[in-house]
Amino acid sequence: MRLIVVVGARPNFIKVGPLMPALLEAGVDARIVHTGQHYDTGMSGVFFEDLEIPEPAWNLDVGSGTHAVQTGTAMMRLEELFGSERPDAVMVVGDVNSTLAGALAAVKLNIPVLHLEAGLRSGDMSMPEEVNRLVTDQLSSMLLAPTQDAVVSLEREGTARARVHFVGNIMAESVLKNLDRVADRVVCDRYGLETGGYVLVTVHRPENTDHPDRMADIAAALREAPLPVLLPAHPRTRPSLAAAGIAEGTSNVHVVDAVGYLDMLALECDAAAIVTDSGGVQEEACMVKTPCVTVRRSTERWVTLEVQANRLVAAEREAILDGLAAALDSKRSWPRPPRWDELVSARVVKALDKGIEPLAGC
Ligand code: UD1
Ligand code: UDP
Repeated sequence: MRLIVVVGARPNFIKVGPLMPALLEAGVDARIVHTGQHYDTGMSGVFFEDLEIPEPAWNLDVGSGTHAVQTGTAMMRLEELFGSERPDAVMVVGDVNSTLAGALAAVKLNIPVLHLEAGLRSGDMSMPEEVNRLVTDQLSSMLLAPTQDAVVSLEREGTARARVHFVGNIMAESVLKNLDRVADRVVCDRYGLETGGYVLVTVHRPENTDHPDRMADIAAALREAPLPVLLPAHPRTRPSLAAAGIAEGTSNVHVVDAVGYLDMLALECDAAAIVTDSGGVQEEACMVKTPCVTVRRSTERWVTLEVQANRLVAAEREAILDGLAAALDSKRSWPRPPRWDELVSARVVKALDKGIEPLAGC
């Protein structure tokens, strides 16, 4: 089978980390196209190195832009590529603009779309990712679901059951396959912090970064946190942090450049708690048993709330501080969600072996 795997942004790279070796070992002729949505070394190259991901066969240099510009440019370049390569199928992962562009470009050429991380729903249509997920799932012939609630959501939306495969969470597989590699990696001391003595924070969702009032609340909570804060900043976050009065050297808040995957995993393991609005970080916190506080209106990672690894709080100073106090107080004894294990990529290969259910008319 000739498969093109579309990636573009940071969380995509981590998802294909464990997937590519499994596909290649199973004899799938799988090649990566990088749309170029993320392009800085710290947002892209470092993940290919850390996770030993095969070099992309193509890089489309799409870069930054508004949603329509970014998605449209990626679609145009992917259409040309898919048209000349005519793969048997296209795999898209996650919920970023490159995911949607890959699905749209492929389906219109009657090339089946396989979606890894299908069925997650936040119920919040103001999130660009929710739009991307919903449309991508509608266009997909094979829906590879990370959780049981994702399977239920797809069923509720009327997706044919034969197209849905409960493969589990590929982010969990990536964590499990890399934990040994970070066992002796102490990253926090680079920042003058002690193991178990800091709160790790990431913020990058537009629902926070694009709202100065919410960023002001987040900044106030971080300044008052009971432990020092380490905040590896996504490039889009720096200006809004600065506007909220948090810069590199702000008292107990250490703002640093975004870090690579292995450093991040080590930091997650060694943190006393994590405060985030990231999807992937919520899942990793659950896997490494570090209590998490999610600062958002909703989450599509419901299962992390269910197992009590995570708590959802509004972007308000008091709510964040209360959530953090509860997280720091909590026991790290929750169970791992079903199929968050090392066999996810193997289940994807098994699903491919069963064959792809074509969409009506295709
Ligand atoms: C995108 C995804 C989001 C995901 C995140 C992962 C969409 C709609 N959003 O958001 O779901 O959680 O990636 O990190 O696809 N920039 C750089 N260097 C880079 C990349 C981006 O400086 O290498 C800056 C640019 O100013 C750019 C901004 O970050 O305009 C936003 O990048 P973009 O890819 O549009 O969205 P993200 O916020 O990264
Ligand atoms: N991540 C990283 N370095 C950082 C911040 C995040 O390696 O400085 C990793 C994190 O460990 C997780 C992934 O990026 O694997 C999550 O991506 P992100 O938060 O950008 O996007 P989301 O998951 O919210 O779509």
